[in-house]
Amino acid sequence: MAFSLFRLILTGVLLLVGTIVLVLMYNSSLLSHKYFPVRNSKLLAVQPNCTMVTQQSNKPVVLLWFWPENKAFDFQDCKKLFKITNCKLTDDKSLYSKAEAVLIFHKAIYEDLSNLPTSPRPGFQRWIWLNMDSPTNTRQIEGLQSLFNLTLSYRRDADIPVRWKLTAKKQPAEEFVLPKKKRLLCWILENSDLNTTSVEGSSYYAKLVEYIKVHVFNTTLKGERYFQTISSCKFLLSFENSIHKDYISEIFNGPLAAGTVPIVLGPPRKNYEDFAPGTAFIHVSDFPDPMKLADLLLRLDEDSEAYMKYFTWRQFYTVRRHLTEENHKYTHAICQACYHVGLNKEYRVVRDLYKWFYQ
Ligand SMILES: *[C@@H]1O[C@H](CO)[C@@H](O)[C@H](O)[C@H]1NC(C)=O
Ligand SMILES: *[C@@H]1O[C@H](CO)[C@@H](O)[C@H](O)[C@H]1NC(C)=O
Ligand SMILES: *[C@@H]1O[C@H](CO)[C@@H](O)[C@H](O)[C@H]1NC(C)=O
Ligand SMILES: *[C@@H]1O[C@H](CO)[C@@H](O)[C@H](O)[C@H]1NC(C)=O
Repeated sequence: MAFSLFRLILTGVLLLVGTIVLVLMYNSSLLSHKYFPVRNSKLLAVQPNCTMVTQQSNKPVVLLWFWPENKAFDFQDCKKLFKITNCKLTDDKSLYSKAEAVLIFHKAIYEDLSNLPTSPRPGFQRWIWLNMDSPTNTRQIEGLQSLFNLTLSYRRDADIPVRWKLTAKKQPAEEFVLPKKKRLLCWILENSDLNTTSVEGSSYYAKLVEYIKVHVFNTTLKGERYFQTISSCKFLLSFENSIHKDYISEIFNGPLAAGTVPIVLGPPRKNYEDFAPGTAFIHVSDFPDPMKLADLLLRLDEDSEAYMKYFTWRQFYTVRRHLTEENHKYTHAICQACYHVGLNKEYRVVRDLYKWFYQ
């Protein structure tokens, strides 16, 4: 009798121990899982000696207040795509009071500011103004002038400048193999809902087609198809949708990455040369009129030696394909913000946002 009671208790204890072991194993597998969700932060508190968790909790929390244009991506992509791991990105607004930085997408802010955080801002917290558009496409909202601590923009003088940059090679290398070309001159009109080009760009195009055939791709091309299409052209019209200093977008990076010569219309040539060698592109201002440009392109079509000179820069620089998928439109910018906040702790106030941006 006593013996079977003992057996019963023993079985119970074993079951209990087994369950605890299973629960612990489950938790630790969750902890080591790379998609460990932020909202389980309570769990972190009771597991103080898991090294990975300790590291994570030391990283500053960066709260993304709005998903820009609802283009959500997996925050792990910052690690996968850019090896950026030095902050903890979250979109969980309940972490507001802990967030070292709050990333606020300009275009999503209501006119009356009613969708901005309403609880008091902790003393250590910095608000980041996230706007990748040019002044032409940025509406002024009253009351934002001195709300932010950091600016994120394509501008070089932003606190967090964002762009796809060439990187210098450690030593000159690699013969460039020209992709197979099927067309002389192309133009890609993306996003029919937005103005793909400026008034200057449209009128330049209208004059250019009088002298040379332009293949217009009037669809939104993504990923491999985008780069393949561009690479099939010897030249690509890389016309910015508005003309501002430093406003040189992916429209310029695409052809460089694809092995195609961009013909740029945007800020002055000197400004382009801040970002790429002057021999990597043709600027419309290099010619007195579109006819002269057409002449050169037709000549280069016959003279492959002269054409290849536009690629000598490739011995010295590498160029990276930008992300073309819709949901990744803001991934680079958001990851850069994470990187910045992970490295810099400075106190700062943007005194007059619009004076800086629209000057
Ligand atoms: C984990 O923490 C507990 C108490 O917090 C401590 O007794 C134990 O030694 C720690 N284990 C390791 C491996 O650090
Ligand atoms: C497109 O450009 C025209 C002329 O520049 C302008 O009037 C119009 O508002 C623009 N549309 C959009 C959606 O930006
Ligand atoms: C591009 O397509 C839109 C509609 O899809 C059309 O209105 C427009 O005229 C087209 N533009 C060109 C240059 O083919
Ligand atoms: C951030 O900016 C606000 C508003 O200008 C200011 O009150 C606050 O002290 C700044 N905080 C930091 C950490 O720079």
